[in-house]
Amino acid sequence: MEYKVVDHKYDVVVVGAGGAGLRATVGLAQRGLKTACITKVFPTRSHTVAAQGGISAALGNMGKDDWRWHMYDTIKGSDWLGDQDAIEYMVREAIPSIIELEHMGVPFSRTEKGKIYQRPFGGMTTEFGEGDPAQRTCAAADRTGHAILHTLYQQCLKNNAEFFIEYFANDLIMDNDGDCVGVMAWNLDDGVMHRFHAKQVILCTGGYGKVFFSATSAHTCTGDGSAMAQRAGIPLQDPEFVQFHPTGIYGAGCLITEGVRGEGGYLTNSQGERFMERYAPHVKDLASRDVVSRSMTMEIIEGRGVGKKQDHINLHLEHLPKDVINERLPGIAETASIFAGVDVTKQPIPVIPTCHYNMGGIPTNMFGEVLKPTKSNPNAVVKGLMAAGESACVSVHGANRLGSNSLLDLIVFGRAVAIRCSEVIDKNEPHKPMPKNGGEDSLERLDSLRNAKGDIGTAELRSEMQDVMQKYCAVFRTEEMLEEGMSKLKNIWDNKSDIRVNDRSLIWNSDLVETLEFENLISQAMVTMASAKNRKESRGAQARDDYPERDDKKWMKHTIAYIDNKTGKVDISYRPVHTWTLTDEIDYIPPKKRVY
Ligand code: SIN
Repeated sequence: MEYKVVDHKYDVVVVGAGGAGLRATVGLAQRGLKTACITKVFPTRSHTVAAQGGISAALGNMGKDDWRWHMYDTIKGSDWLGDQDAIEYMVREAIPSIIELEHMGVPFSRTEKGKIYQRPFGGMTTEFGEGDPAQRTCAAADRTGHAILHTLYQQCLKNNAEFFIEYFANDLIMDNDGDCVGVMAWNLDDGVMHRFHAKQVILCTGGYGKVFFSATSAHTCTGDGSAMAQRAGIPLQDPEFVQFHPTGIYGAGCLITEGVRGEGGYLTNSQGERFMERYAPHVKDLASRDVVSRSMTMEIIEGRGVGKKQDHINLHLEHLPKDVINERLPGIAETASIFAGVDVTKQPIPVIPTCHYNMGGIPTNMFGEVLKPTKSNPNAVVKGLMAAGESACVSVHGANRLGSNSLLDLIVFGRAVAIRCSEVIDKNEPHKPMPKNGGEDSLERLDSLRNAKGDIGTAELRSEMQDVMQKYCAVFRTEEMLEEGMSKLKNIWDNKSDIRVNDRSLIWNSDLVETLEFENLISQAMVTMASAKNRKESRGAQARDDYPERDDKKWMKHTIAYIDNKTGKVDISYRPVHTWTLTDEIDYIPPKKRVY
């Protein structure tokens, strides 16, 4: 096994260049830390570019608002699984974070008075849920993620951040104390391996939506950082909570923003009924996502779906004025035309709940430091390792994320990790030594996959995994389904040893990239299914037909799921939910029944 390896030394290495990665990178570069950002795709092609509807903050530009109402909505949206201190941090820091984005140059849509335009979004209300829907979601038409990502990348360049573009991060490098000291990456363009030595590695690698067959996620959303953490012996927190966005285009999976319903769009069944009036009489189509997705699925199960197979739902915008569509929803009009062949001014869009977001991820505290909980210390920090964005679980979304709180999470916690690094890194201190054999096991793993001569192609195994996840672990779950799903998934796991890679080269070897990505996906699929089976209650996105109620006595706790990287066996323990706030400006919000 002969590989050319180039060594690098940085204060901080950020893995991933989506919203969290770029916000972290610009913050680190501004603070004078020598920073490298490694990314497998060109930064502005990261999946954040696809975020449409907006980013929440109680700016109050379009009606009275208060960060406390935002906090209440987020806790209720999380079905009381979110950590209340971290949620307070996020919604308070939302306000300065958005103003910073505005000053960096994000081209937000504007009100007549020139303020940032804000639209209603699901689950966002006023007066602690008692008032009208809040206009809290700051938008740049329906291309908010695109606008933010481009601005952040420009700011990174302005601040001389260094990028390693189209480098695939393979593995973390851990030392004998269990601390992280760097990361191994493969330059896809010339086949050379790179060993990055760093004082902090920050994982901002996004979610793992591609474990499902139908997902709004890009093909690149393979949770590479979370799987790297798993291989380093770090658990994932709350992986059973997977969000299904109500409005993915039927058949294609592309996202149609919740902003459509925020602007007045609505859903109907085959009888032309606005059925959300039955399920959420107060806020109707603007209930939180898990509620809308379940209601749509119920309509389909009960035979009121639309289309030949009665297996989807209609989303209407035909009644909206043309200038609203042109100014505020131009992107989805184009997407609907290309992927559903629909003119949104004349016809409804066929939609279906589609996997959209992972609430779970690498456990972190609110500074972004990665946690490896032990019995005596649920907040034990892994030195040298941080995470932010969808790959992390802080936990601010608990069992269900509210729309537009994702871009917010990326920006607030991308910013937070940069602030934390500037507090804990002494530029004049030497790095912790790199172990003599640092990165060798990663090269061995890559080499054995590159030379895999089995009988089963990667695409075949991946599509089996996606089918199993879609069939046995989607919107509604039961013990029986999960039991069967788990055993099918274990077969797929075992078949990894019989995988075949045809291309042995090192330059743009997409066969090998997809195989590495599949390895990353399958270990996250395993903990997702096992944790869903283990949690015997319904809460947020986990809807168990056989345990239909939320059970706060037994289950108001975070899942901590470890995988044995050799056998695929999943071990589950727990971490307490933080039932305290950050300041005395708001009290703990106790659980109550979640109705909209
Ligand atoms: C949307 O625009 O509906 C997606 C944004 C989000 O998931 O927060």
